[in-house]
Amino acid sequence: MDSIRIQGGMALQGKVRIQGSKNASLPILAATLLVGESSLIKNCPRITDVYSMVSLLKSLGCSVRWQEAGIAVDSSQVRQALMPRDAVRGMRSSLCLLGALIGRCAEVVMEHPGGCVIGERPIDMHLSALGRMGVEFEEDEKYLKAFSHGLHGADIHLPFPSVGATENIILAGVMAEGDTVLYGAAREPEVSALCRFLQQCGGWIEGIGSERLVIHGGRRLYGTEFTVPADRIVAGTYLLGCIGTGGSVFLEQAPGEEMQSVLETAVQMGGRIYGSKEGLYIQAPDRPAAVELVTAPYPGFPTDLQSVVLAVETRGKGASRIEERIFENRFRIVEELEKMGAMVELSGPGSALVHGVETLRGTRVEARELRGGAALVVAGLMAEGETFIGGCPYIYRGYENIGRDFRELGARVTSV
Ligand code: EPZ
Repeated sequence: MDSIRIQGGMALQGKVRIQGSKNASLPILAATLLVGESSLIKNCPRITDVYSMVSLLKSLGCSVRWQEAGIAVDSSQVRQALMPRDAVRGMRSSLCLLGALIGRCAEVVMEHPGGCVIGERPIDMHLSALGRMGVEFEEDEKYLKAFSHGLHGADIHLPFPSVGATENIILAGVMAEGDTVLYGAAREPEVSALCRFLQQCGGWIEGIGSERLVIHGGRRLYGTEFTVPADRIVAGTYLLGCIGTGGSVFLEQAPGEEMQSVLETAVQMGGRIYGSKEGLYIQAPDRPAAVELVTAPYPGFPTDLQSVVLAVETRGKGASRIEERIFENRFRIVEELEKMGAMVELSGPGSALVHGVETLRGTRVEARELRGGAALVVAGLMAEGETFIGGCPYIYRGYENIGRDFRELGARVTSV
C-alpha cells in the first residue's frame, strides 16, 4: 500500500471530518514525560509520526495504551533517557523529547535528528537556549549528549521564531527553578496547544499566543485529560484541493480561527468560504485565480501548505509567484509536477513563478516528503486521466488516510 492511484478531473463534493493535529500531538505527547503520572491525550491522529512517538515513550519506560478515547500515557516509571537510534533518525519531532527529558533526567542521549529533503534542519537555537537554562552538551557527528545538574530559568531571545526551539524552551522551562522569559517565541497554534496542556497539568505560562512567553518553573505537574485540536494543515490541504478541482465541500472540525492567512489566500484564488464552529464550507471557482504568496511564521502563510498552493496554481488563470521563506529546499515537487505538464520557473532557492496551464496530464510521480506528497495527490485529483503516486509512506506520516478522506469527497482514489 505504498502507492496511490487517482482517476482525476472530478470536482469534489461532500463532507469530511478533519483529524487531530500532528504538530500539536507530538510535543504534547512528549510533555506527558514531565507529569510523572497518567495522562489521556484525546484526538491524536493515527499517523506514523504519532506511532513513532509512542514507541519512543515506551522505550523510555512509559506505559502507553491506545484507547477508544485517545492515548493513555503513564510516565511514572521513566527509567532512562537513551532514545533508540531508528526512532530518532526518522523523526525530527523527537527533538522536543530533549526538552521534556532533560527536565526529568540528568542526562539525555540521542542521535542528531539530522536534516531532511526540505532542509538542513539545524538545532543551534535549541542548544543555545537550553544552554542558558543550565544544560551542557557533548556532540559528535552522530550523537548529542545533554547533561544538567538542575535547570534554572533564564531570559532567552530567539533570533527566529523556531517552533521546535520554542517548544523545547517551554518544556524545560516548566521544570526549571525560577522563571524563563522567552522573547521572539513562535506563535503557531501548536505552541499554544502545548501551553494549554501544561496549564491544565498545573503549569503557569503567561503570554500564550504572543511572541513573549513567561514560563513559571518549579510547579508540581499532575496528569490530565486533553483533547488535541484539529489539524489546520490537513484542513488547508483539503480546502485547497477543492479550490483546485472545483466543487463544494464541508470540512468538519476545521479550525478556521487558526487558518486566517490560508482562508485569505483561498478567497484570492476565487474560493467562497463560510465558517462556523462546526467547520468550514468551501465553494470553489471554475478555475483558480493567480496569487502572490510568501510563506512566513504564524500568523503568516504556513510553509506546510506552500506546495499545495503551488500544485493548485499549476492550473491557475495567469502566473503565480510563490516565495518560500522558511525552508531552503521546498520546491522538490516542481520536477514531479512538470511530468504532469506544469510550467514552473524556479529563480533561486526560494522563488517560483507558476504559469497556469489549461490541463494537467495524469502520469506516474514520486512523493519525496510529507507535504509535497500531499500536494501531488491534489495535482492528481486536478489532472485528466490516471495518476500513480509512489512514496506514499511519506504522506502517511501526517495524514491518517488521505485516500479515504478524498473518497469521502467523491474522488476516485485507491491505495495500491
Ligand atoms: C515545525 O518544524 C513543524 N514540525 C514543521 O512541520 C513546520 O514546517 C515548521 O515548524 C515551521 O512551521 C513539527 O511541529 C513537528 P522551525 P521545526 O524550528 O520546529 C530554522 C510538517 O510537515 N532553524 O520553526 O523543525 C530551520 O532550519 C513539518 O508537519 C534553525 O536555523 O521548524 C527552518 O529554516 C515540516 N535553527 C526555520 O528555522 C534551529 O535551531 C523554521 O524551523 C531551529 C530552526
